[in-house]
Amino acid sequence: MAEHKILISREKIAERVSEMGKQITADAKGEPIIFVGVLKGAAIFLSDLVRRVQVDATFEFIGVSTYGNRPTPTQELRYAWDSTGEVRLTKDVDQSLRGKNVVLVEDILDTGFTLTFLKRLLQGHNPKSFRVAVLLDKPSRRKMPVQADYTGFEIPDEFVVGYGLDYAERYRNLPDICVLPNGPQVNEN
Ligand code: IMP
Ligand code: MG
Repeated sequence: MAEHKILISREKIAERVSEMGKQITADAKGEPIIFVGVLKGAAIFLSDLVRRVQVDATFEFIGVSTYGNRPTPTQELRYAWDSTGEVRLTKDVDQSLRGKNVVLVEDILDTGFTLTFLKRLLQGHNPKSFRVAVLLDKPSRRKMPVQADYTGFEIPDEFVVGYGLDYAERYRNLPDICVLPNGPQVNEN
């Protein structure tokens, strides 16, 4: 496994996730919450976050994938992960969110296409309240006018892995958030 530069340590993550849990608890005013995690990247963040929230909580998972973002040799490598905006649902929630307090949990807010799609989809359920928690935000990459209600860390325009985030499905189990040494490569492996 290549050397990874740590951007955010496991200790810093734990501290911030605990603060986010307190904030979500305060905003819930004693009412139950349904957390909706976006597979697969948000799974680790969700599992830590829900244990820091002190109201009744249940969780759901939703799956999305982005069409047509395969890098071509002519594309600049650093932008090989660019979203195209064509988001597709691969797994829906198992229950209606009507009248519920929903917190959508996402690993990273980048261009904003995924979150725009998911907000529209989930708000269509007519929840009582709808908020978004993201662990990471890269505001400089935004293409859609969307933002989270709870943000763990704002980070610069670098490709990060670990704590649930992947590059080609790898590195999700790194305990810290790390920067890939040379950015994402088209032909790694
Ligand atoms: P958006 O639709 O461009 O906002 O992209 C959000 C999705 O892109 C995230 O859920 C991630 O799966 C992926 N993504 C964006 N930036 C990174 C990164 O730096 N590392 C790993 N995945 C990323
Ligand atoms: Mg991903």
